[in-house]
Amino acid sequence: MPALAPSPERDHARENRLRAALSASNANANILAFHALVSTMDEAHSQAEQGAPTGTVVLAGRQTGGRGRLGRVWSSPEGGLYVSFVLRTGRAASEIPQLALVAGLAAAETVRYLIHQGAISVKWPNDVLIDDKKAAGILIEARGNAVIIGMGINVKRSNGLPDTATSLESHGAEADTDAVFLRLIDDLSQWAGEWERQGFAPVRSALRLLLNGIGHMVRLSAGSETIEGQAMDLDESGRLVIRQDSGLLRAFSIGEVSILR
Ligand code: BTN
Repeated sequence: MPALAPSPERDHARENRLRAALSASNANANILAFHALVSTMDEAHSQAEQGAPTGTVVLAGRQTGGRGRLGRVWSSPEGGLYVSFVLRTGRAASEIPQLALVAGLAAAETVRYLIHQGAISVKWPNDVLIDDKKAAGILIEARGNAVIIGMGINVKRSNGLPDTATSLESHGAEADTDAVFLRLIDDLSQWAGEWERQGFAPVRSALRLLLNGIGHMVRLSAGSETIEGQAMDLDESGRLVIRQDSGLLRAFSIGEVSILR
């Protein structure tokens, strides 16, 4: 009989530190911290399958199989923030993709609060950029009636980052993943709460001020389709509106964007 894989080891010291520091607005968060996980997404899904409520948070010091959007690998050595939040929402299933934008806005506000130099923007749908380099990525996965919001933030990692990425530490932030988490959980609770109560309109207003690439010529790939055109706006439901050369306006709810000029 094959040996069972050992259960991942909990980081009780980190859990205690974070519980003690959590603000009153997040007093009911249930923090589960691990030294290492394959992916915080898997652990959060498994917690949700066992009935974990909104407020359950899974953290890992490092991940051995971190994943990103579109099947990409999210390299996850020590020094980054790797976290997944369990959310059970009363909003319609058709609105759930908006949570990627809600989370992108929250992460951008956290980064803006913590760094001391650099221009922050959000690359649709949800990459957080500092001076046009990626500092944080977001992955949303829904199963059953639970949504898992995964976030990876490059906190003090500078070595080995690709040219297209950067870290908070390189922009003057304190290199403390717990401090980043504590700010992030407040920002995410605030914006997820706003979305839950009022829908996408307030999120859209705040996000439009941060969106990168609006007015530029972009290339968008969605599935097997690739189109080029001018990025015009974020519409009322969070789709990116692109005007093609023919004048045709099209709105996309998924895709990968690159700025051409
Ligand atoms: C992306 O930009 O492609 C999204 C990256 C999401 C990475 C985070 S790290 C915490 C959580 N666990 C994972 O395996 N992925 C997300």
